[in-house]
Amino acid sequence: MDRIVAHQSGPLAGEVIVPGAKNSVLKLMVASLYAEGEHRLTNVPGISDVLTMGALLGSLGVQVGFAEGRHDELVLSNSGDIAWNPPPENVESIRASINVLGPLIARCRRVRLDMPGGDDFGDRPIDMHIAGLTAMGVEFDTDATHIEARAENLHGAEIALDFPSVGATENIVCAAVHADGRTVLRNAAREPEVADLCQLLVEMGARIDGIGTSVLTIDGVEAGSLHPVSHAVVNDRIQAATYMSAVAMVGGDVFVRGARADHMEMFLRKLSEMGVDVGADPTGVRVRCNGRLRAVDVQTLPYPGVATDYKPLMVTLLAMADGIGVMTENLYPGRFRYVEELSKLGADIRTDGHHAVVHGVDRLRGAAVVAPDIRAGAALVVAGLAAEGRTIISGVEHIDRGYDDLVGRLAAIGATIERSA
Ligand code: UD1
Repeated sequence: MDRIVAHQSGPLAGEVIVPGAKNSVLKLMVASLYAEGEHRLTNVPGISDVLTMGALLGSLGVQVGFAEGRHDELVLSNSGDIAWNPPPENVESIRASINVLGPLIARCRRVRLDMPGGDDFGDRPIDMHIAGLTAMGVEFDTDATHIEARAENLHGAEIALDFPSVGATENIVCAAVHADGRTVLRNAAREPEVADLCQLLVEMGARIDGIGTSVLTIDGVEAGSLHPVSHAVVNDRIQAATYMSAVAMVGGDVFVRGARADHMEMFLRKLSEMGVDVGADPTGVRVRCNGRLRAVDVQTLPYPGVATDYKPLMVTLLAMADGIGVMTENLYPGRFRYVEELSKLGADIRTDGHHAVVHGVDRLRGAAVVAPDIRAGAALVVAGLAAEGRTIISGVEHIDRGYDDLVGRLAAIGATIERSA
């Protein structure tokens, strides 16, 4: 198993380019299920989840490969013969496999799916997916290990989500694309990655209004009427935030090319409050920092709030900030598992329910830590750049699921970091 070795570094300088978003590309890949022929995705990040999703789609009848000589462009060839029951081994390791539910219902009117895996943040129910699809005429037979669904008569419906769930919004929109009549989805998730999927579906011939807002109106179009397109994946705001956090943590002056300030408003505002100088233009975001950060309080919320995926990074920044910061997690109560690892580096963090109280310390010390999930793993790498001595991060396979060459990109802006087998 590989390890990442991070040494105390900084200041960082230069430019880093932001790749496409994991939480978009996986869903865009799934959209290839709708139409026979050759689909293309560009700005594809080099992450292992893309390969996992490629294998899942392969088992359903879409062959996925890289365009000749390219590592950031996918060709997805839909044979026209799509299966409705993917084998469990292709479903278990990524959460985004739940995203085949909506398209398979739309396309095959029938699905059998084992319960998806993904990062372990505790309980991750799918009741809102099921309630929304049930309102559209889908009949479910589920237990703790699998989901079975049929839709003899898939029709539009008026649906209001209890909470703007990303996955439920995507599955309901995807089923509604081929439902009979109009679906109006209220309290829909507004994340840029959800908008990217809706945009792709519209390019393919779907009829969706209100993209990027909390009310989506989808008018069903006939099955078989969508066509393949070429589409560029939206840039990854979480990977962008990771490089910005590294600068905030150890100082420096870095241009994060491709970072979309309009997609990261609340995160950038928090960085500014902490004392980071943030300058945005249409091509990216420049972050400059020298001196100690100020502690702030942060709450995670659905978009446009501070995303839960930024949280391990923000807790890491607070760990060395001046003062006490309270982090409140409103999405996944179990998502504090990396706190124990940060404590091994000398961080002073106490958790109580869905709050973490972070007392900023003057120094962190290198230690051996384990990445518990994708984002927490990246946050431990960022912490390792600030810690005295050497921090050894194992569990790198989690980081590889969502980061395109994190080590190489950090090294290119001056971090002392390497990966070893
Ligand atoms: C997606 C992202 C994940 C991110 C999350 C929130 C992908 C592959 N993953 O996950 O990185 O952290 O959005 O921004 O895109 N919930 C229910 N019932 C449901 C569905 C969700 O109670 O039917 C709850 C969840 O347990 C959680 C909250 O709603 O507390 C948000 O979940 P959701 O937005 O659905 O997240 P995911 O789509 O799973």
